[in-house]
Amino acid sequence: MDDHALLPVHPVPADLERRCDPYPWLNRLRTEGPVQRIRLRDGTEAYMVTRHGDVLAAAGDPRLSSDPRRLTSQPERSVRLSAGNALPSMLTTDAPDHTRLRRLVSRAFTARRVEALRPRVREIAAGLLDAIVPRGHADLVAEFAFPLPVAVICELLGVPFADRAYFSRQSSDLLRPPVDAAEMARAEAARDRLRDYLADLVADKRADRGDDLISELVAATEEQRLTDQELNSMALLLLVAGHETTVNLIGTAMWLLLQRPEQLAALRADPALLPAAVEEFLRYDGPVMTGVARYTTTDVEIAGITIPADQIVILSTGAANRDPERFERPDEVRFDRADNPHVAFGHGSHFCLGAALARVEAVEGIGALLRRLPGLTAATDPAELPWRPSVLRGLQRLPVTFDTPATDAG
Ligand code: HEM
Repeated sequence: MDDHALLPVHPVPADLERRCDPYPWLNRLRTEGPVQRIRLRDGTEAYMVTRHGDVLAAAGDPRLSSDPRRLTSQPERSVRLSAGNALPSMLTTDAPDHTRLRRLVSRAFTARRVEALRPRVREIAAGLLDAIVPRGHADLVAEFAFPLPVAVICELLGVPFADRAYFSRQSSDLLRPPVDAAEMARAEAARDRLRDYLADLVADKRADRGDDLISELVAATEEQRLTDQELNSMALLLLVAGHETTVNLIGTAMWLLLQRPEQLAALRADPALLPAAVEEFLRYDGPVMTGVARYTTTDVEIAGITIPADQIVILSTGAANRDPERFERPDEVRFDRADNPHVAFGHGSHFCLGAALARVEAVEGIGALLRRLPGLTAATDPAELPWRPSVLRGLQRLPVTFDTPATDAG
């Protein structure tokens, strides 16, 4: 008897990431059981792992592949491959390719290298705030949470910041939920445009090397350590990841604080709390909320349920991060958690390469906002604000008001 045949199939709601509070759905699935059958928005059926301990174990289990090319069943394979994964990157490969690809760039993202970037992150944040402070109102997403990480990743990669309107549009189209054929086609077209844009940029750097990561990778292709196609996929992955994640973390963190004035005041009074607060924002409502994808290469038993070979498995970071067996009072934002082993950055060999960078950007960014914007208040009801139509979770905008320096003086 197939265990999985007994389980009901839960369709992932089309608007899950756009809900003001998507966690009741994830919490319900976890309460119903550690492994659930779900229907993804591209129509394919999958399994969802919901508990913290099982997500940790599954993320380190080599029988669960990160490579959708390992799927042999149709149409799952073609759907997964069309969904932006057609060309391999480190995110969608297993060892040994994954190890080789990750090693080529991991030095640029170590805690030490990222720490050296902290003053530059501070400087970019200060420059953005110089333009905002005198006005008394701002959209914290468009004017701060977005340009801060984008400026940083552009400098690291050697991508012109001036092109951001173009590649940001492609990047957000690429990540729209694949709810129908039109959305999938839109995502594929965006991916192709990004690939063309990056291929042109690589050609320029081949002719005229700069002091940046893409130029370093161009050198690696010349030494045959990386193919041209892998270079293109790597640049695309880093540009998109650098774009679509920290912006959401800073936006959501500020949205949560504006609804919790006492906690906002506590952070402002004691910035030493910021690193723990950022970990709590990641746990409570992180950008990668639904989960990360894996593919079974053989039958795999998780929490007593056998998932057959050749299946898609979503390790739900959002459900795991609210698991009451691991986190006391998981549905509360608390800066005083003694230990906070959230899985917002994943776990195992694919653990987020940009985690140290995202942490520095969030601590510096949120710290600067609290320091320089006294009297910070939401300009519209936070419950009414729109969330982005994306597979990642983030606010579309966050209008706020604050005291201007002139008001302070008066
Ligand atoms: C708050 C911000 C971020 C969150 C929540 C986040 C989350 C994640 C998660 C959950 C994974 C694991 C994927 C998996 O296991 O399949 C991951 C991988 C990755 N992230 Fe992040 N990320 C963030 C920021 C960044 C930034 C700023 C960068 C780059 C500049 C980045 C680059 C990557 C890369 C390259 C991988 C693939 C690593 C691998 O497959 O070995 N991330 N991220």
